Amino acid sequence: MDRKRIIVGVAGGIAAYKACTLVRQLTEAGHDVRVLPTESALRFVGAATFEALSGHPVHTGVWDDVHEVPHVRIGQEADLVVVAPATADLLARAVAGRADDLLTATLLTARCPVMFAPAMHTEMWFHPATVDNVATLRRRGAVVLEPASGRLTGADSGAGRLPEAEEISTLAQLLLERGDALPYDLAGVKALVTAGGTREPIDPVRFIGNRSSGKQGYAMARVLAQRGAEVTLIAGNTAGLVDPAGVDVVHIGSAAQLRDAVSKHAPEAHVLVMAAAVADFRPVHAATSKIKKSSDPGEDAPTIDLTRTDDILAGSVRARNDGQLPNMRAIVGFAAETGDANGDVLFHARAKFRRKGCELLVVNAVGENRAFEVDNNDGWLLAADGSETALEHGSKTLMASRIVDAIVALLHNDGNG
Ligand code: CTP
Repeated sequence: MDRKRIIVGVAGGIAAYKACTLVRQLTEAGHDVRVLPTESALRFVGAATFEALSGHPVHTGVWDDVHEVPHVRIGQEADLVVVAPATADLLARAVAGRADDLLTATLLTARCPVMFAPAMHTEMWFHPATVDNVATLRRRGAVVLEPASGRLTGADSGAGRLPEAEEISTLAQLLLERGDALPYDLAGVKALVTAGGTREPIDPVRFIGNRSSGKQGYAMARVLAQRGAEVTLIAGNTAGLVDPAGVDVVHIGSAAQLRDAVSKHAPEAHVLVMAAAVADFRPVHAATSKIKKSSDPGEDAPTIDLTRTDDILAGSVRARNDGQLPNMRAIVGFAAETGDANGDVLFHARAKFRRKGCELLVVNAVGENRAFEVDNNDGWLLAADGSETALEHGSKTLMASRIVDAIVALLHNDGNG
């Protein structure tokens, strides 16, 4: 991606220390980052830290370098403004249109996408004043991230934690890639997302697994949640991914556990996204103790008999068509395909789409540096109306946001959205 001008605003909360990691990640991604802390942010982290990390001087007020008119120019020239952490007070000042320091003045002059990553105590987050302020900012087109839940300052825990720096920088880069804000258009929608690979036990220490990293499914859960959906993520094995903020995560191991978790949560869901790489076969018997090799090197290796697992996607489509999932309005499948002598990637994907009967099928071509364990991807989106849309090359988060655009269109088209 080109070098973009990103303003990182930092308000005065203890999570200000996490802004240092965010600034580092954004500069390492090649962007020109300038930090605008508030006076109170500097009580938590010194200006020297932000200056060293960003390579730019740090000011809080509008009276430095006045001849350069920074209180207007910084906002006008920015490609993206990210405020992390955004305290309850900062959100209130942004809503009121105050311009009493350099950060709030910049928020008034910025015409680029603006993202707030709130961090505050749970009581403050749920106070009607903050709830109204967040709704107002979203209505005006700003992206206000859902905070994470968990340990807050002191002994408290609950909603209000700043999402991890990696999550904020991922979403910041998404806004730059999309070139527009992420709409908050899925409030009231319940989404069930599966991600990662299953592990089919052979014995207590061995399993049959696959190379899925879970990144695409996590990106789907993250984007759905940040657009307002209530998301349950059923996660198999992943490459140590950060749980997305504001998402309920259920960890499972085998295909059978994934099937049971989907059956449990699907009746509530409006949307099912099957991004998990589910094993198609599992050992018929998992040994209860570790399988030992004999001391005789000439002895044959054991044979492991395999049996088919249930097709969870096809089973969910069947259950929905039989009226067992009355809330379900969109089922999304994924297909990783290679071409062969019978046809190319799309030929196989079309056949799979017909077999599975879902509303959308996301198709990835598998090969060198594609689909598995990588950050970028491309592919096609097949829809039940016969359309085949190419998904532009970009981050898995960008791809997730395009798939979610299609899900939103589906929900609106079926008359209930
Ligand atoms: N899937 C599933 N249950 C399975 C296997 C796959 O729900 N037991 C889902 C995956 O989550 C994915 C889609 O089905 O959304 C496609 O998976 P894939 O393994 O590519 O499809 P298969 O029907 O198994 O076809 P193939 O013969 O290519 O393996």
